[in-house]
Amino acid sequence: MEMEKVVSVEGLVKRYGDTTAVDGISFVVGRGEIFGLLGPNGAGKTTTVECIEGLRVPDAGRIEVLGEVPSPTNYALKARLGIQLQGTAFLSRLTVEETLRLFAALYPRHRPIPELLGLAALGEKRRAQVGKLSGGQRQRLAVALALVNDPELLVLDEPTTGLDPQARRALWDLILSLKGEGRTVLLTTHYMEEAEELCDRVLILDHGRIVALGSPEALIAEHFRETPIEVVLGDAGADLSGLPGVERVVRDKEGTIVLYSAAPVETIQALSALSHRGEIGLRDLRLRRVSLEDVYLLLTGRRIRE
Ligand SMILES: Nc1ncnc2c1ncn2[C@@H]1O[C@H](COP(=O)(O)OP(=O)(O)OP(=O)(O)O)[C@@H](O)[C@H]1O
Ligand SMILES: [Mg+2]
Repeated sequence: MEMEKVVSVEGLVKRYGDTTAVDGISFVVGRGEIFGLLGPNGAGKTTTVECIEGLRVPDAGRIEVLGEVPSPTNYALKARLGIQLQGTAFLSRLTVEETLRLFAALYPRHRPIPELLGLAALGEKRRAQVGKLSGGQRQRLAVALALVNDPELLVLDEPTTGLDPQARRALWDLILSLKGEGRTVLLTTHYMEEAEELCDRVLILDHGRIVALGSPEALIAEHFRETPIEVVLGDAGADLSGLPGVERVVRDKEGTIVLYSAAPVETIQALSALSHRGEIGLRDLRLRRVSLEDVYLLLTGRRIRE
């Protein structure tokens, strides 16, 4: 597969004092892709995107973005990027429209304000003060601001964190429409469902290192042929790894035990028999389809939660 590279990262290392935030990672993002960076808190996602944006200077490695090397002083490149930082601060007294105009004035060329309002579905709110927007509206405004300069590449750091499912879906539609316009999107997220829905490919980071890279479907197929059975027990102790069909057992932070079974019917029968004999206190049992969440749980040992 030949793809035109919009971002290429090679051997990126970034340290803060004694902390190695990013520890030698390499990947490319192709034109027109929605590419997701996933990983637990502190994995190095924001550090990586800030190096790509030219806001931080790498300690080692090489980054190319749209054929240029990003740096704090590469303004020509910045004019071609759309950046949404993790936790955007606004001037709360300005209206939505005034905020867009303020940002538009920073660029020699900008997308028409009505078009931006339309894209972000903020037309009705254009005269509302930014401080009075809902969380979802504020995030859509942040993405609209990232679009002001008609960028080829958008870099969105946790665009949907803290939003309710409906607001999140509205942002997904916005992000998908950007892909429809042929733009490239690099985003970070804590939501596996979001990554599965939006991303052509994802990179899972943990402690600054790559633990997985590929399309959600490919990663799921690569790691799982089994069915996940979620079990909650009243007592902690029982070892369920020997049950028929069970190939792997993962326990998440909340205490849910996930049994990955190649023979789910037999596994459930065995669980039920144990429970009948009083050998385990079965509080809950659920079957579900395999998702990117399972890959993430397997590779990082953590389940992502807000
Ligand atoms: N300015 C800084 N000074 C010192 N250490 C930092 C700084 N920024 C980040 N770090 C450290 O670098 C590591 C990576 O942080 P980073 O913000 O890149 O993680 P992240 O994956 O974006 O996390 P989150 O999901 O919480 O946003 C963490 O250990 C963090 O404490
Ligand atoms: Mg971050």
